[in-house]
Amino acid sequence: MNFKRTILITGGAGFIGSHVVRLFVTKYPDYRIVNLDALTYAGNLENLSDIDQQPNYVFEKVNILDADELKRVFDQYQPDGVIHLAAESHVDRSIHSPLDFVYTNVIGTVNLLNQAKNSWNLNTKPCSLNNPRFYHVSTDEVYGALGETGYFTEQTKYDPHSPYSASKASSDHFVRAYHDTYGLPVVISNCSNNYGPHHFPEKLIPLFINNIIEKKPLPVYGDGLYTRDWLFVKDHATAIDKVFHEGNSGDTYNIGGFNEWRNIDLVKLLCRLMDEKLGNAPGTSEVLITYVKDRPGHDRRYAIDASKINKELGWKPSVTFEQGLAQTIDWYLSNGDWLTRVTSGEYQAYYDEQYGGKV
Ligand code: NAD
Ligand code: TYD
Repeated sequence: MNFKRTILITGGAGFIGSHVVRLFVTKYPDYRIVNLDALTYAGNLENLSDIDQQPNYVFEKVNILDADELKRVFDQYQPDGVIHLAAESHVDRSIHSPLDFVYTNVIGTVNLLNQAKNSWNLNTKPCSLNNPRFYHVSTDEVYGALGETGYFTEQTKYDPHSPYSASKASSDHFVRAYHDTYGLPVVISNCSNNYGPHHFPEKLIPLFINNIIEKKPLPVYGDGLYTRDWLFVKDHATAIDKVFHEGNSGDTYNIGGFNEWRNIDLVKLLCRLMDEKLGNAPGTSEVLITYVKDRPGHDRRYAIDASKINKELGWKPSVTFEQGLAQTIDWYLSNGDWLTRVTSGEYQAYYDEQYGGKV
């Protein structure tokens, strides 16, 4: 089959990446989607079991630190677009293993930039590719922490505090440097906290849903008054689609839902909704809330000003927080098998079962 475009999506077996892969595979049957992922603990191919037999989908188990393998994939598929989501993504893990974040998020990203630059050969011959584009998916955490008021805009100075956010900030700088130095056509987006189906249960919302189901403590860090700006993952995926196709080359777009919640308020809402869904008496789950030692370097507040993407590209979230959270809870309650296979580690066998373990 002749495809109109080939898009390489890195980190497509992860939480956000799997939603992006599904959106592109189903919305663009004339695109070939190559999902490149190393399948770390966070990579779960079961996230894509509903679309992995589609004729326009290919999976490649490759680590972005492996430059030879990246070259092989570029030579084999000749992608004219990259959407780069592969990363180490959990702040708490970055506090314990910062170097893993430097390797994947910084060096891995530079490897990928190099490969795109070399393969697209932009400066030495007329580029035969159809509108090549390197899209780097980043986070609002690069901007640091806000006080009680104000928003992160695309002009906010970078001020990362955790090893995770420092590594993402560094990768953003490299992406811009490849644009300015080599003319690589890039676009970057910085998004707020995502939530939704297939979220690995070590992050706040899925961890707490799982703990409520299992009647385990809900560990709230510090005073619980930290504020995050939450966006439903499928809305992030539609924003990525917009930015990839319509964003200006060299530009940055902040993505968020103007949806700030203090952690403790969010946890109480989650407890109430879970009690309703589980048929528990009101207040049953709240007793599980346990204040624990704070995360070091914990950013007080994140809040995204998403007016640029709204005004320039016409994107806005499709669901309210209440709708998205209800959908998320329903998904976890009706996908107990997914949760069991993730918490037990069984999900890691899916690659061998489907692909015969070939690398
Ligand atoms: P995730 O941890 O769920 O998934 C990351 C994926 O990358 C996994 O499938 C993993 O196997 C893969 N990966 C990790 N190291 C790799 C390597 N060396 N080579 C190839 N693949 C590798 O992360 P996520 O929450 O889906 O986040 C995706 C991207 O979006 C990240 O770049 C993250 O910084 C960014 N982001 C996340 C959020 C959020 O709230 N989760 C918000 C804004 C931006
Ligand atoms: P998290 O989901 O780890 O995302 P991030 O740190 O990237 O924002 O955490 C969201 C917020 O919830 C953050 O302020 C830390 C807090 N938190 C807890 O209070 N308890 C927990 O067990 C976790 C995982 C997070």
